Amino acid sequence: AHFSPQSLPLNGKRFLITAGPTKEKIDPVRYVTNHSSGKMGYALAEEAAKMGAKVILVSGADNISAPAGVTLVKIESAEDMYNEVMKYFPESDVVIKSAAVADYRPSHVYDKKVKKQAGNLMIEFERTKDILQELGKNKDRQFLVGFAAETNDLEKYALQKLERKNLDMIVGNNILEAGAGFSGDTNIVTIFHKDHSVKKLPLLSKHETANEILGEIILKMGDD
Ligand code: CTP
Ligand code: CA
Repeated sequence: AHFSPQSLPLNGKRFLITAGPTKEKIDPVRYVTNHSSGKMGYALAEEAAKMGAKVILVSGADNISAPAGVTLVKIESAEDMYNEVMKYFPESDVVIKSAAVADYRPSHVYDKKVKKQAGNLMIEFERTKDILQELGKNKDRQFLVGFAAETNDLEKYALQKLERKNLDMIVGNNILEAGAGFSGDTNIVTIFHKDHSVKKLPLLSKHETANEILGEIILKMGDD
């Protein structure tokens, strides 16, 4: 089929998407991170751009190249991600937070390499800012989408996060389910809306999942 740019479903909409893990420094050679690959967020960015959206992708992922037509902003820490997201938030229509943001960071970053010594090493961690919760407090017209990767009680935790962070929609998955893990090319998600409607998707590629998620956003974002 041939579409003129004006007929694309997200033509002119501004999307802010976050992807991948964050890295929290211990010293100049070490950091704490998580298993997020960034693939889900990159798939969302690519598919949204194909639908005509202007996409800014704030990413902590490595070894994955920027999708065509997407503006990539690379970050390292949760604090970096917070700063970049706050910068682009006011001009965004839709925010999708698929990043796996660290909840804690070392409370002290050593400026020299930590040398090994006899006995155990104790590292104290402090809380990072909850970026999405902050957006939920400050949103005006923005459609806010969160992710919830859980190992148990998915519906309960996803709905709690939807409420607590003042979201329009949350995408939940059970990372212990085969085909729904962090690094694979497939996912099995359930979408929970603010109006409490629920859409459970089957095992799909991350690109197919992205298209379904974007379809739900298009369906709901005109509603308010
Ligand atoms: N999130 C965020 N900033 C943080 C932590 C999480 O923006 N500091 C976002 C994630 O990008 C995701 C959503 O909040 O879209 C839910 O993240 P998740 O880790 O599942 O929830 P938490 O509120 O951190 O709760 P917990 O890890 O204890 O389950
Ligand atoms: Ca968390």
